[in-house]
Amino acid sequence: MEQLHIIGSDRPLKGEMVISGAKNAALPIMCAALLSDETLHLSNVPMLRDVATTCRLLADMGAKIEQDGVSQIDICCKEINDFRAKYDLVKTMRASILVLGPMLARFGQAQVSLPGGCAIGSRPVDLHIKGLQAMGADICIEHGYIKAKADRLKGCRFVMDAVTVTGTENLMMAAALADGETVLENAAMEPEVSDLGECLIKMGAEITGLGTPTLRIKGKEKLHGTRHAIIADRIEAGTFLCALAMTRGQLLLKNAAPHTMDAVLDKLTEAGMVIECGKDWIAADMQHRPNAVNIHTAPYPAFPTDMQAQFMAMNCIANGASTITENIFENRFMHIPELNRMGADIMFNGKTATVKGVSKLSGAKVMATDLRASASLVIAGLVADGTTIVDRIYHLDRGYEHIETKLGNVGAEIKRVKGG
Ligand code: UD1
Repeated sequence: MEQLHIIGSDRPLKGEMVISGAKNAALPIMCAALLSDETLHLSNVPMLRDVATTCRLLADMGAKIEQDGVSQIDICCKEINDFRAKYDLVKTMRASILVLGPMLARFGQAQVSLPGGCAIGSRPVDLHIKGLQAMGADICIEHGYIKAKADRLKGCRFVMDAVTVTGTENLMMAAALADGETVLENAAMEPEVSDLGECLIKMGAEITGLGTPTLRIKGKEKLHGTRHAIIADRIEAGTFLCALAMTRGQLLLKNAAPHTMDAVLDKLTEAGMVIECGKDWIAADMQHRPNAVNIHTAPYPAFPTDMQAQFMAMNCIANGASTITENIFENRFMHIPELNRMGADIMFNGKTATVKGVSKLSGAKVMATDLRASASLVIAGLVADGTTIVDRIYHLDRGYEHIETKLGNVGAEIKRVKGG
């Protein structure tokens, strides 16, 4: 199993980094290829484990996939001959549920293994199912699979009683081929949902309200192929800015999407970072120990749960105490014991953690159980005394492209080590 070895230092980060395409936009957009018999040409796709898993998932169903290994993927779903997303793949990536809506809408049938629990909570998919049922699907759960059938789905008004990102995406894709208009209320407003919407529009869909809680989708008989460049990853960019807040220094993030990062950039400014943005770049300068900042997570445009662990790492070495409240997932504090092993002072009760900033962390062998938690341990390692060894980095590889190279290029001492 691979590990990351990080040698902590007082050296500030300095230089330029290119931000990759967003994992959470790439995955639904790749699944949108199922809506058409023509080819979807995607660029700025991050080469991540979850992207490889989605390729396998689609290829298993009969999709033809060509990739250049850098950032382009062409997907053609003309000949789909298996309508199942099997447990073996779904269990490694919950986002596999995103094939349900498009397959049902185009082929009238789909079987997707229930994702089950995951490290950061139970994460049900009841709203995906209820929404498709409201569009006329016949759905049952058998042998661990969601089995769905429908003639042509019918447009309807569906109010989601919780904001769900992949739920909104699944229903938006299904509605794009349904008969008549679908109105999704309390829809997720995340930029990745809008990026999927923009791609669907290029494929011929009629969608209004992207970026608002009400999406109106007029179903079409057929969608066609198109070209689409995936939006920049706001979570990757935010993670590197947290690393900068901790190490101090100056970074220029290129190919970024600062307009999708308001809540995160505001908090970093409160922490003391000087930030300047252009359309697709962020210049950030941090010259002193960060001020502790309070965080509570909520759906976009509020502060993202996917940045909670990284801000906690920053608060560990900040000046002052802070509270961090996790409102989206019930079990997303697994990085706390690991950060405490590195000398942090964090207590938590229910969904709120209290972090007292300490002047120094100390390197340790740590292990993370989810993607963003792993990222928090890596950036904590950058400023810890001695060596930090982060185990189980397959979690990191699900969502960060070449993280050791990108951080290494701006001055971090970090290497990937086999075995251990
Ligand atoms: C997506 C993101 C993930 C991010 C999360 C919240 C992808 C591939 N993943 O996950 O990185 O952390 O949004 O921003 O885009 N819920 C229900 N019923 C449902 C669906 C969700 O109760 O049918 C609840 C969940 O348990 C959770 C909340 O809604 O408490 C938000 O979950 P959701 O937005 O669906 O997360 P994902 O789409 O799985």
